[in-house]
Amino acid sequence: MKNLWKFVLVLATAAPAAIAAERVVALKDAPGKDTVEATCSGCHSLDYIPLNSPFLDQQGWTAEVNKMINAYGAPIPQAEAAKAIAYLAANYGKP
Ligand code: HEC
Repeated sequence: MKNLWKFVLVLATAAPAAIAAERVVALKDAPGKDTVEATCSGCHSLDYIPLNSPFLDQQGWTAEVNKMINAYGAPIPQAEAAKAIAYLAANYGKP
């Protein structure tokens, strides 16, 4: 019984670290990924993208990217922003 509890504890502490590490590794491979990696990683972690995927659809991602540009001064040209939005909506859009 004592050993079983130890095992449960190990699982509980190891799992979140594994998930966090996976998030840092890379975004999904799809057209537009390079654009997003290049334009969205300058100010903060790319973790923000998977973390927000349950909440943002195409419209939400459009607003989010525009906020990065207009409110936070992200230097993202319109064509790049459109590519990034398409990638985000397709790969990290709310189901
Ligand atoms: C010029 C700097 C800058 C760039 C470039 C940038 N962001 Fe942000 N982003 C911020 C700031 C500042 C915040 C809010 C403060 C924080 O949480 O770090 C933020 C927050 C966010 C959030 C969290 C939700 C929110 O609204 O606070 C998401 C999602 C996000 N950014 C996505 C993106 C995406 C996608 C890109 C690429 C298109 C991008 N960011 C590029 C500065 C930037």
